[in-house]
Amino acid sequence: MNSTGTPIPMHADAEQSIGRGNNTYTLGPMQAGPACCDPQPLIQVDNFSLHYGTKPALANVTLNIYRGCITALIGPSGCGKTSFLSSINRLTDLIPGCRIAGRIRIDGTDIHDPARNVQALRRQIGMVFQKPTPFPLSIHRNIELPLHEHGITRRAETEAIIEQALQDVGLWDEVHDRLGASALSLSGGQQQRLCIARALALNPQILLMDEPCSALDPIASGVVEDLISRLRGRYTIVIVTHNLAQARRIANYAAFFWVKEHAGRLVEFGHCRQIFESPAHELTAAYVNGARG
Ligand SMILES: Nc1ncnc2c1ncn2[C@@H]1O[C@H](COP(=O)(O)OP(=O)(O)OP(=O)(O)O)[C@@H](O)[C@H]1O
Ligand SMILES: [Mg+2]
Repeated sequence: MNSTGTPIPMHADAEQSIGRGNNTYTLGPMQAGPACCDPQPLIQVDNFSLHYGTKPALANVTLNIYRGCITALIGPSGCGKTSFLSSINRLTDLIPGCRIAGRIRIDGTDIHDPARNVQALRRQIGMVFQKPTPFPLSIHRNIELPLHEHGITRRAETEAIIEQALQDVGLWDEVHDRLGASALSLSGGQQQRLCIARALALNPQILLMDEPCSALDPIASGVVEDLISRLRGRYTIVIVTHNLAQARRIANYAAFFWVKEHAGRLVEFGHCRQIFESPAHELTAAYVNGARG
């Protein structure tokens, strides 16, 4: 759904070429999920707070993330966007002294339920960081390794998944004849698309992206942005971005955070268009108009 509530068409088998200057990238055929025109909550966050030691980072955040949609987290530095994102796949568990309160449910199940298998949770949720983080291994091994770690070892199956993931991010044509080359020999934008392919290979339900374009040049950033748009419907995407124009272009929903009384708080959540064109809160208006933040 776009911000006016109109369904965004997804063309399941369409090949799409994206021209940027002299570079044309072909994104391979992708099986689209249903377009996000029926807002059903997939991630339900209730009164969620997070502390690092005694320092509060997030206070009383309540919002729903809708299935198949792109939700942008926006707000100034230090307002807790990364902390919020990392709470969804419980990466914050790995930080000594990090404490949480409140509840996050995915598909109705509490992610902090003691019976919950954290590895299975993380398999369900792919994560992409600001700086491309390929392993210092071959392009092929970068995708094969997580598959093996998650028990997918049959050769024909892994090869098919690797090709499909590279097709999905438009890298196959660029790298199929050098899969044994180091991933570090790729350009920054290609490395980021490889990291997205690595996440997609495990067939996650959710993709968390923390400023995935901010370390890229404008051309590579545009390619990755177009790719993220194409993943709508098939995945539920939560993306942190400082680029408000980008949030406006690609997100269905936006959540605006701000630091108040030393903790990050959700000021406003809504359709992207509403947040940018008719924000309900004066802080949101000041931020999206560039007057604050
Ligand atoms: N591992 C940590 N230990 C202690 N404090 C932390 C840790 N990570 C983040 N913080 C603090 O928590 C608050 C929220 O940080 P967070 O990184 O979530 O913000 P952010 O909105 O992602 O900022 P940015 O836009 O700069 O990436 C900040 O005050 C930060 O200093
Ligand atoms: Mg951050």
